[in-house]
Amino acid sequence: MSAKILVVDDDPNVQRLLSFTLKQEGYEVIVAGDGAEGFKLWAQDPPALVLLDVMLPKLDGYQVAAKIRAEEGGSGHVPIIMLTAESEVEQKIRGLRAGADDYLVKPFHPAELLARIKSLLARFAPRDMLVGRPPLGRVLAFYGAKGGVGTTTIAINTAIALHRELGRKVCLVDANLQFGDHRVFLDLGLDRKSIVDVVTAPSIDADLFRNVVVKHDSGIDLLLAPPSPETAELVTKEHLAHILETLRGLYDYIVVDVDKRLDDTNLGIFDAADTLFVVMTADLSCLKNVRLVLETLGHIGYADDRVKLVLNRSNAFTGINVKNAEGALKRTIDHLVINEYRGAISALNSGAPVMFTKADSPLGRSFHDFARAIEKQPRAVTGSALVAPAR
Ligand SMILES: Nc1ncnc2c1ncn2[C@@H]1O[C@H](COP(=O)(O)OP(=O)(O)OP(=O)(O)O)[C@@H](O)[C@H]1O
Ligand SMILES: [Mg+2]
Repeated sequence: MSAKILVVDDDPNVQRLLSFTLKQEGYEVIVAGDGAEGFKLWAQDPPALVLLDVMLPKLDGYQVAAKIRAEEGGSGHVPIIMLTAESEVEQKIRGLRAGADDYLVKPFHPAELLARIKSLLARFAPRDMLVGRPPLGRVLAFYGAKGGVGTTTIAINTAIALHRELGRKVCLVDANLQFGDHRVFLDLGLDRKSIVDVVTAPSIDADLFRNVVVKHDSGIDLLLAPPSPETAELVTKEHLAHILETLRGLYDYIVVDVDKRLDDTNLGIFDAADTLFVVMTADLSCLKNVRLVLETLGHIGYADDRVKLVLNRSNAFTGINVKNAEGALKRTIDHLVINEYRGAISALNSGAPVMFTKADSPLGRSFHDFARAIEKQPRAVTGSALVAPAR
């Protein structure tokens, strides 16, 4: 049976062109000429996907998207592609915040439209079919060999790439308990619920997480760090182990952004992780730290194949190239993320991650490649690698 697509656009020429293109590909098409009619047609018989113009009579595209999302609640998710005449980042962010999954700037090539429709239908359809499928339950820990190497940037964007590009259900955990940055990177206020709401609840179970995780517009769920450094003390190593174990039963990937202390709490997170990504840049002090981290992990019996090195800003000129770094560490670097300072810093300052608003940029593609490589990785055997040796 062909998928039904709802086209909401007031321009008869666009309506005709889109109908023709989509029908030629075998889709069933219904057309609405204004926002109110678009919403009505969606509500009468929800289509497989909505193409939504921004400038519409009665209700504009943002309002229609927001109304659809409000009406859907948690019960479903129709993919929405926003068709916009504006290419400004703010407009795109507004569209995405209103609930769109993707956007296309007019004029666009029909082939691009069809490719995006296919990708969105593939991303959302399998989820319905796989209801009841057990989640992969893989814990990925991201640990910076030094402060400021880009650990948070990589954890956030990888989490979004695993969801948006690969259709995985993802929870991103900010385990930088005292100075977590995710509220800043994702433009969320201090009023949002956090891990403190988990550890102060009478019991930690799946239902609790449904109420505490923050739903980000990109589609990933967030377990935020405490709103202030004092409350961080409430979260113990045992809590974290229990939290990660419970999240395993709910998500395909649990992406944990770990702060740079090598203390008991963080070793507990490493222990729970299927893979530990050590993030580094190509400079001497970072190489020194990576060596120390690898040595320490070796001493405590952490399996070498669970550790992967991620070289961030890999093509930045530092005088040390990938080969030099590998030579100094006597091991291969597993993943490279490219350098794009302007893209990374403006994403941080606008609260809109690159993978959310600029997935097609070179940096976005770099995260996408990284997520794909993670997906291909065989699952490591986890266990109590870090339990203290018997005395
Ligand atoms: N691939 C990249 N290219 C260019 N700049 C980057 C890249 N990744 C991160 N940055 C920039 O590096 C800075 C530090 O990033 P981020 O906060 O993610 O690092 P961190 O290791 O988590 O830092 P902290 O130790 O404070 O937790 C930010 O300004 C960010 O925009
Ligand atoms: Mg950080």
